[in-house]
Amino acid sequence: MNRHLLLIGFMGTGKTSVSERLHQMLGTGQSDTDRMIEEREGMSISRIFEEKGEAYFRNAETRLLGELTAMKPMVISCGGGMALRPGNAALMKAAGTVVLLTARPQTILERLKDDDTRPLLAGRKDADYIRTLYESRRPAYEAAADIQISTDGRSIEDICQEIAEKIKKSC
Ligand code: S3P
Repeated sequence: MNRHLLLIGFMGTGKTSVSERLHQMLGTGQSDTDRMIEEREGMSISRIFEEKGEAYFRNAETRLLGELTAMKPMVISCGGGMALRPGNAALMKAAGTVVLLTARPQTILERLKDDDTRPLLAGRKDADYIRTLYESRRPAYEAAADIQISTDGRSIEDICQEIAEKIKKSC
């Protein structure tokens, strides 16, 4: 692999779980933009949102994207809002192949129902809210993606196999 493989998509589409298996399959390193930002800031994503605000977090995301081209090719799980800001898609495409993971709102709800680490879903964890937010983001996700993979009802292994097959042609 000579370029990064960036996983994007809504919260709960499996980016972290997929990246943890996929990097083993591909024999590369692995990273996660949320974790990198948390390490740099010395606080959790929820606390960054609370204390510094969402705009601060979005700036940190864009700054990090700009640094990726200098890093060794790896599988990178991106925060669910990474593809939304104008300009970020171009930075991602310059850094590597962008894989969009998708899931139905009901699947997302099921996966995140006991999770309290997503500030944007705090107190609003219902299928209607998730569907509305997802639909408002879908055009940006699709515009940023080179490859799209559905994750509903599938094992991580199966999803990773499909990605590995598809990227053989583009990485
Ligand atoms: C966000 C998704 C989160 C995290 C932050 C904002 C979003 O990442 O970056 O809470 O705007 O969708 P995950 O997609 O890994 O949950």
